[in-house]
Amino acid sequence: MNIYEALRESHDAQRELCANLLASAPDVNTRKQLFKSLKVELEAHAAAEERFLYSPMLMEDAGLSISRHALAEHHEMEELMEELTTNDPTVQGWLTRAKALCDKVNHHLDEEEKVFFQLSGKILSDTQKIKLAKEYLADYKRLKIKYSN
Ligand SMILES: [Fe+2]
Ligand SMILES: [Fe+2]
Repeated sequence: MNIYEALRESHDAQRELCANLLASAPDVNTRKQLFKSLKVELEAHAAAEERFLYSPMLMEDAGLSISRHALAEHHEMEELMEELTTNDPTVQGWLTRAKALCDKVNHHLDEEEKVFFQLSGKILSDTQKIKLAKEYLADYKRLKIKYSN
């Protein structure tokens, strides 16, 4: 498995978790639980992706601009998640903000898969892509356990 295949597995999980959250009934516990699962997935993925895709990309001149762009989007998602964590999921507007988060998530995933991974694929070597996949997966799994508790 290379780094892109490993990253895509979480991308698919994120898309599904977003769809489930947006389709959820306005019940506090259901929404809190669905949002927690999405948040854990997004945070574990973003952190491990920053370390094992964007960090090596930042070391290359050709990777600087797209990495900055991606990290800025991770930060925007983090801020929306903080807002959703603080606010009660039954208050008016909560689902609208959850939709704003998921629109951002879907845009980000599509951009990574269609643009960033292609460019990064030309910069990283095949050996690096395999090694980074192993490192990413180990960190992602560790963080998912850490953030779930
Ligand atoms: Fe990302
Ligand atoms: Fe990603």
